[in-house]
Amino acid sequence: PRLAIGIDIGGTKVAGGVVDESGAILHRARRDTPHRSTSPSVVEDTIVEAVDELLRHVDPDEVVAVGIGAAGFVAADRATVVFAPHLSWRNEPLHDALSARIRYPVTVDNDANAAAWAEATHGAAQGESHVVVITLGTGIGGALIVDGQVQRGRHGIAGEFGHMQIVPNGMRCECGNRGCWEQYASGNALVRETKGMMEAGSPVVADLLARLGGDPGALTGPFITEAAREGDPTARELIADIGTWLGVGMANLAAAFDPGLFVVGGGVSAADEMLLAPARNAFRKQLPGRGYRPEARIVRAVLGSDAGLIGAAELARAGRG
Ligand code: BGC
Ligand code: NA
Ligand code: ZN
Repeated sequence: PRLAIGIDIGGTKVAGGVVDESGAILHRARRDTPHRSTSPSVVEDTIVEAVDELLRHVDPDEVVAVGIGAAGFVAADRATVVFAPHLSWRNEPLHDALSARIRYPVTVDNDANAAAWAEATHGAAQGESHVVVITLGTGIGGALIVDGQVQRGRHGIAGEFGHMQIVPNGMRCECGNRGCWEQYASGNALVRETKGMMEAGSPVVADLLARLGGDPGALTGPFITEAAREGDPTARELIADIGTWLGVGMANLAAAFDPGLFVVGGGVSAADEMLLAPARNAFRKQLPGRGYRPEARIVRAVLGSDAGLIGAAELARAGRG
């Protein structure tokens, strides 16, 4: 079998996997992403360690390539990460740095582009001509697929939807601007809002805080989703707020691209209809020309938060570096 290794480097975690030709993950490896104040070489060490760990589970001769999905602006050369808001990469020659340390061909792409590719080949975007993929994690990743091809723009960095301004003079973003969409509709935003209420001593989050043993620092996105699933009303409301912002941004994207389908992935998409129902409502309220135009469908990514690593592996196997 021609196995490929995919590594998805997000703002908080590095998720790796050995992926077979059917797109199935045979083995996994997981690391925390080094903090953005650490040097790029530390992130590269983490990637190399994850690859080595995965190689111990398979016959190395069956592996044909390693693909990286990186949470940053990947240049048209598919080798350089020019900028990454949540990581230390600035004009980082990621492809060359990793190629020197990994004995397989390495391909590099943006994490959301990789996720979009996986959804287009194995997931929710199959057979669709115009698709916008949104990944909700630490930030918001984006990709536009037209006729099965990820659109990359003139310089390779199209699809940075998370940094569209959605609130004038709004929250400061790691990219340096204010009011970016990812400050309102990401996993980070969900945790920040919830933590803010906890630190302010709000009674509506008292139950949630008690479940964390009184420590707001222990809060995570998956914890909030789990609490919402169990019926916690505040957790549900906080996820619905994220969904509403999601829908507003998608209406803007519909104005620009008129897709037939939106696919929502990333860790926060685990909240499923608790997130997507409010997103659809907000989308319908904000869509320019509503009532006079076809409306895009909004669905959850079939591959969930695995899409990035599967797509990175598939791109590597296909040699689309
Ligand atoms: C980055 C994107 C990335 C997204 C999701 C954003 O902050 O600018 O490059 O795709 O986060 O990780
Ligand atoms: Na992208
Ligand atoms: Zn930004």
